[in-house]
Amino acid sequence: MPLVPMRVLLDHAAEHDYGVGAFNVNNMEQIQAIMTAATETNSPVIVQASRGARSFTNDAYLRHLMLAAAELNPKIPIAMHQDHGNSPATCFSAIDQGFTSVMMDGSLMEDGKSPATYEYNVDVTRQVVKRAHALGVTVEAEIGCLGGIEDGHGAGLTGDEALAHLTDPGEAERFVADTGCDALAVAIGTSHGAYKFTVKPTGDVLKMDVIEEIHRRLPNTHLVMHGSSSVPRELVDLINRYGGKLKESYGVPVEAIQKGIKHGVRKINVDTDNRLAITGAIRKVFAETPEKFDPRDYMKPAREAMAQVVKERMIAFGQAGWADRIPNVTLEDMAKRYR
Ligand code: G3H
Ligand code: 13P
Ligand code: ZN
Repeated sequence: MPLVPMRVLLDHAAEHDYGVGAFNVNNMEQIQAIMTAATETNSPVIVQASRGARSFTNDAYLRHLMLAAAELNPKIPIAMHQDHGNSPATCFSAIDQGFTSVMMDGSLMEDGKSPATYEYNVDVTRQVVKRAHALGVTVEAEIGCLGGIEDGHGAGLTGDEALAHLTDPGEAERFVADTGCDALAVAIGTSHGAYKFTVKPTGDVLKMDVIEEIHRRLPNTHLVMHGSSSVPRELVDLINRYGGKLKESYGVPVEAIQKGIKHGVRKINVDTDNRLAITGAIRKVFAETPEKFDPRDYMKPAREAMAQVVKERMIAFGQAGWADRIPNVTLEDMAKRYR
């Protein structure tokens, strides 16, 4: 099956009350891990690439790897998504590269750090919606700012500052009407990376009530949770047991995500958990068998470790079992629908 618009997957997920994990990739093994998990669980797939991933893979490698994934897995619908596009130009170049979905993150300025005004966000998002929808490509937008600044992306907000930049439900309602975006990323207290919360999060810092209110106002908009890694203790421990130096921290509990799915969350972004799984597996091989130097000796267990995490998330989010029941809708079909 050719790559499909992400909107098709999110519409199906909304119709059947489940969520779809969106997993970041930077190389062949990560794409393979996701496809293994998807075939073993019959799950639809959202693969996403950040700007950093696109520059790391030089676009062309990524495009051909994704085409290989589609060719080898004809029964699995796959959407290819630009994560955190920082400008219309980034989104347009992604579309030119065959991405079937883009995120225009106008919550921050083009530097990916400074919080933007509402007007700026509407302006850049509208530009992207206009061009993307004409081609059947899905658009995710963001209102409110995530905390943290790991991975070079984010406003660097800490604690109270991040809580002050949570998505305002009234503004979210206006923003969707003003832009026509398909999916909306909301800020509810999460941040990217391994250090989200210093204690197990409660409703004071992980604001699931904000999601509920936004969903009440926007029942037909697909909500997106960024920074949704759970940072499993066993993966952090594994890394540290084999020479790593990760600090203790808490991620977003899977049960919180499941609650979000009951309130309109359809796309759940996960990158860090897969990074942890890969790093733990590689460190283990290096520590236990230091004589090994064939990359396959450590990339294979790394790929398996990531596939296991992705599989667990696909089951927990409820997307398992649906891949072969999703209608085949092309970009052209979607473009007609938008018209
Ligand atoms: O947006 C955050 C994702 O984890 C991607 O991170 O920009 O380091 O590729 P990255
Ligand atoms: P994590 O760092 O929690 O995996 O979040 C990834 C993300 O939101 C990518 O956009
Ligand atoms: Zn994100």
